[in-house]
Amino acid sequence: MDQNAAAALQYAQEHRDVYLHDLTDFLRIPSISTDPSFAGEVARAADWLVNHMQSIGITARAVPTGGHPVVVGECVHDPTLPTVLVYGHYDVQPPDPIELWDSPPFEPMVREGALFARGSSDDKGQLMVHLNALEAYAHTAGRPPVNLKYILEGEEESGSGSIPAFLDRYAKELTADVVLLSDTTLFAPGVPSLTYGLRGLAYVEVTLIGPDRDLHSGTYGGAIENPINALCRLVAGLHDNDHRISVDGFYDDVRDVTPQERAAMRALPFDAAAWASEVGVGATRTEAGYSVLEASTARPTLDCNGIWGGYTGKGAKTVLPSRAGAKISTRLVPDQEPDDIIEKLRAHCESRVPGTMRLEFRKIHTGRGVLVDTESAPMEAASQALEAIYGVRPHLTRIGGSIPIVADFKERLGLDSVLMGFGLDSDAIHSPNEHFGLDRFDQGTAAVIHFLSLYGKIGDRR
Ligand code: BES
Ligand code: MN
Ligand code: MN
Repeated sequence: MDQNAAAALQYAQEHRDVYLHDLTDFLRIPSISTDPSFAGEVARAADWLVNHMQSIGITARAVPTGGHPVVVGECVHDPTLPTVLVYGHYDVQPPDPIELWDSPPFEPMVREGALFARGSSDDKGQLMVHLNALEAYAHTAGRPPVNLKYILEGEEESGSGSIPAFLDRYAKELTADVVLLSDTTLFAPGVPSLTYGLRGLAYVEVTLIGPDRDLHSGTYGGAIENPINALCRLVAGLHDNDHRISVDGFYDDVRDVTPQERAAMRALPFDAAAWASEVGVGATRTEAGYSVLEASTARPTLDCNGIWGGYTGKGAKTVLPSRAGAKISTRLVPDQEPDDIIEKLRAHCESRVPGTMRLEFRKIHTGRGVLVDTESAPMEAASQALEAIYGVRPHLTRIGGSIPIVADFKERLGLDSVLMGFGLDSDAIHSPNEHFGLDRFDQGTAAVIHFLSLYGKIGDRR
């Protein structure tokens, strides 16, 4: 390891309390992007970042969009060096159900070696490791051995609606050699991985509307068709007995797992039974012919995410409801086109609406799945960086979640991404009691310092 990296690593070790203090400040801001009443807080988080970035020597600003601001920054000092574009998101999921938190979601608290707060793992804690690394270089060698640019998003958790247009408009300013981000998981505690695949998604809301008001189920039941009954039939018909999705043409463009990938996935130290029992179920259910790991990361899915209608309060109410609704999302894989899937889903639903009611079908958001190049110089630098921290080469994994901007980076800016994440499935992201292990906060910072140093060298020969 070179001297500058060693000095930066030492600085990071000695200033972990400062890093933790800054992250805690950042986590206090409830930057919930999906709820319009929190728009002011999202803007405050963007401003917090701009100030913090400026304080460590990054030229930064918050750029307004039709949605939430995008924070951009740069630390570009030598045009002959490679340029890394760092991505992260500063928005968070709503904390609900709030009563299930052991400490308030926006009052960060350290317990048992982990920092508990909404956003601690997804993604504020992981985003901050990149700023920590830059700060360590700024206070030691003065500058990192590569050029750095930053794009920090405030809409990732709500569909990234402003991102495509933003990337097109600021493409020049965002010119780089590779994107680096930490918004994914390690394979297991102490077992590093680089993610090479993300699923996409297509999210819709469907409503079946019957009578023009709620009715007495005794007076009308038996002769007026019930929208909840019909919606349940519709949802139940979305899968067949092999747990395949029954929407016509749904699998047309699916790029299947290759035999090599299958073999690599089989070789991973993954215990499906333990994985299932950790979430309290006795058995898994996958699309026929696919393993748990394949089905949960490399095959498309369809899930009903919420369903409502009629009376759900205490006791009983004999009501025949006017309407019933459901939120339905599909996880997609390359080369499924989200808008095409939405049209296929729409056609499926429309053809199954009973003649006694009408359908409202609304698209909420979409994102493409992606597979990144695993053989590139920056991937090699990331492998070596993780090996330096964990003592073993990282596994290459696909994950089932989505980060829509990653496909846009490829399509709109021509950039591949290195997905070097430090989360764990057990971090409870999007759930009550989200947390991020302080060991992983430190490992992340150190891994980024290594990465910048290694890529500065390997990248020279690109
Ligand atoms: N960081 C996650 C993606 C992720 C999920 C990584 C699971 C590792 C494990 C990201 O913030 C996320 O939650 N994405 C959403 C995207 C959606 C709101 C468009 C998702 O996957 O549901
Ligand atoms: Mn995230
Ligand atoms: Mn998330």
